[in-house]
Amino acid sequence: MSDTSQAKQTAFKPRVFSGIQPSGGLTLGNYLGAMRRFVDWQDRGLKEGFETIFCMVDMHAMTVWQDPDALRRQTRELAAGYIASGLDPEKSILFNQSQVPEHAQLGWIFNCVARMGWMQRMTQWKDKAGKNTQNASLGLFAYPALMAADILVYHATHVPVGEDQKQHVELTRDIAAKFNHDYGQEFFPMTEPVIEGAATRVMSLRDGSKKMSKSDPSDMARINMTDDADAIASKIRKARTDPDALPSEVEGLKERAEARNLVNIYAALSDQTMEQVLQDVGGKQFSEFKPMLAELAVAKLAPISTEMARLMQAPEEIDAIIGKGAAQAREIAAPVLAKTYDIVGMIRS
Ligand code: AMP
Ligand code: TRP
Repeated sequence: MSDTSQAKQTAFKPRVFSGIQPSGGLTLGNYLGAMRRFVDWQDRGLKEGFETIFCMVDMHAMTVWQDPDALRRQTRELAAGYIASGLDPEKSILFNQSQVPEHAQLGWIFNCVARMGWMQRMTQWKDKAGKNTQNASLGLFAYPALMAADILVYHATHVPVGEDQKQHVELTRDIAAKFNHDYGQEFFPMTEPVIEGAATRVMSLRDGSKKMSKSDPSDMARINMTDDADAIASKIRKARTDPDALPSEVEGLKERAEARNLVNIYAALSDQTMEQVLQDVGGKQFSEFKPMLAELAVAKLAPISTEMARLMQAPEEIDAIIGKGAAQAREIAAPVLAKTYDIVGMIRS
């Protein structure tokens, strides 16, 4: 960051925002790569006195077809996943995007700031639209401008996301910079993406070169946040490995993607480094290590899936929590939108 942008940045107090699409199927990858990091941000925010805001971005999910009942269920399930992972509605703001209309309102203004060429360069657009761009929804194309609105309607300064979202956060900065320049005001901050490191990337249990994903055709390739203790243990027992014993140094996991992934998951779940784990388990066969990992995974994850299942039995409880979150979010978003309307010349009487 240049000196000048750092100087400009200091005018904005730190605020963290992130969102996940309620498009179904939360995995251990989402837990370790997103949810758990959000909880760390929440705790840091409490200590250091900044707000943390986490959203179920239902308007983003519908840029590709969502069955209405499924969207409702997935939105509640994501809220339950957030809460069961440790996000506390007393400590963070938790809500769904569509209940805070300021996102869509600012999103329109950003549609008029962003350029077609910027959107056309987005790799997620190219991947998701595929060859038949003429048949993709207009919403899918405009998606990054809405994402910029999600972030900037809170003047958020830090956005924890996966590597694949870095380009969208950079576009958010481009939109903020063009708006600030066109209207001659330093109104929106230059948001920093906080990118998940390779260490938090959880790979498929069937193929160590692929990311663990809700869209993998094999359910054995992933641990779902809704899996019960038996399912978690059985998937770990059946995970693909190699015939060798575990090494005592990380170096020895090179070219052993599946072994590396299981050690990485063990390290993440036990809050240790891979080096520390290998000091203990180096020399062990998988027949010995897998039951240890299964026991640890069940101890850490089964309480989360149990709590998610409990919450899903009480959808009205979830709806009350996110309704309250939406009201808190609006308290921050409404004045930012009002000021934006003033800046661009829209009358509010
Ligand atoms: P997605 O479900 O792919 O939309 O991702 C939602 C969030 O979970 C993003 O922040 C991702 O970076 C994170 N995430 C998804 N899958 C994984 C994975 N296998 N390993 C680490 N993080 C993941
Ligand atoms: N585009 C993000 C994804 O697919 C989800 C998202 C929407 C988001 N708005 C956001 C993430 C704002 C961070 C901040 O994962």
